[in-house]
Amino acid sequence: MRKTIIAGNWKMNKTVEETKSMLIELKKLMTGKESVEVVIGAPFTSLESAVKAVEGSRISIAAQNMYPKSSGAYTGEISPEMLKDLGVEYVILGHSERREYFKESNEFINEKVKCALSYGLTPILCIGEKLEDRENGRTLEVNEKQVREGLANLTNEEAVKVIVAYEPVWAIGTGKTATPEMAQETHKEIREVLKAMFGDTSEEITIQYGGSMNAKNAKELLAMNDIDGGLVGGASLEAGSFIEIIKAGL
Ligand code: PGA
Repeated sequence: MRKTIIAGNWKMNKTVEETKSMLIELKKLMTGKESVEVVIGAPFTSLESAVKAVEGSRISIAAQNMYPKSSGAYTGEISPEMLKDLGVEYVILGHSERREYFKESNEFINEKVKCALSYGLTPILCIGEKLEDRENGRTLEVNEKQVREGLANLTNEEAVKVIVAYEPVWAIGTGKTATPEMAQETHKEIREVLKAMFGDTSEEITIQYGGSMNAKNAKELLAMNDIDGGLVGGASLEAGSFIEIIKAGL
């Protein structure tokens, strides 16, 4: 059985104080009966306080990036060892904003995925097509390339630990969501690519949907066969809206 994982991606938002108060509120709203896994991707500066704030709850903490080396002369970067040291368990990799603004390539992202796994961090590999790709009928081609190159040279044992987040770029932060049917179709295609790479292990890989997921549309999206959770940006910034998405995944 695949795990349903609802993850929040806070992006470049929240101070330490804001992090603590949101997580305390979220903990209060959770009943303890949630069957989904809950992950919060906090900015680097809030990771330590986030890990402390969720102690004793079922919430885990993710970083939003990392550099694929354990230490060294990489000014401004953060290593997997540093994340593990803080108690971080997940790391979001290859988000479209990083691909776009920081020119991250599939090859570099693959290096990060492998490095994260070697440190026992769970990578959330983000993939997704741009609007022009979809309009030109290149959705599958683009996603296939990002999956194949992002997960290149992984064993089945490693692949099963990875979470793939399908985030159509045109749906991120725009309020435009893929319809559940559209998202399901692409998720199924992505699973077929995973099957070609990793055989039956593909059935166990969690594929999240991301892109304007919110309290209103989450239930329908999460009801689809191949949608195993969500990576939520805007709607994860407030405990009240995020808890509704967690409940939709129950
Ligand atoms: P959004 O962001 O929910 O605000 O569209 C999702 C993401 O970028 O992970």
